[in-house]
Amino acid sequence: MAVPFLLVSIALSTVLFFLTTLSSANDSNVLLTGDVLGTDSQLYYPGATFVMQGDCNLVLYNKGRGFESNTYGEGVNCTLSLGDRGQLVITSSAGFTVWTSGVAGNAKTGKYAAVLRPDGEVAVYGPAVWSTPDFRFGAAWPNEADLAAIPMV
Ligand SMILES: *[C@@H]1O[C@H](CO)[C@@H](O)[C@H](O)[C@H]1NC(C)=O
Ligand SMILES: *[C@@H]1O[C@H](CO)[C@@H](O)[C@H](O)[C@H]1NC(C)=O
Repeated sequence: MAVPFLLVSIALSTVLFFLTTLSSANDSNVLLTGDVLGTDSQLYYPGATFVMQGDCNLVLYNKGRGFESNTYGEGVNCTLSLGDRGQLVITSSAGFTVWTSGVAGNAKTGKYAAVLRPDGEVAVYGPAVWSTPDFRFGAAWPNEADLAAIPMV
């Protein structure tokens, strides 16, 4: 019984490690539905950053035209999250929505990923139609093991 228990422990540690890095990371280039990018945190890819700034403005710095949400000063300690219909949402610490990227009328509820791509632009993708190792097709909300299986790009 010792070996299976050890394997389970290792698997759990791995899941916790990935959950921790996903939710607190500011050097990943991916934000998943359910993750929160904190104040002064960022998505990062060499040559580009997508920053939830302390002034509540969401800004993409890249080699191109960049982007900003133009929400400077509209909230305090703002955070960025990705909703279950693929919408990026800036929330003030007071709890109100400062800005949202909006959703397509036919957007499905599910797991999305906002990706700071190698070309320096940000786009939202999802839900997954296939995944390794044993993604449960059609499941609207993958469990934590599935979550951990979503790779960093
Ligand atoms: C997080 O982002 C901030 C702001 O860009 C940066 O100063 C800090 O070093 C980053 N921390 C990590 C762990 O990447
Ligand atoms: C914003 O964050 C700072 C640093 O964590 C904290 O000291 C301050 O109380 C926060 N302000 C609000 C309005 O939440």
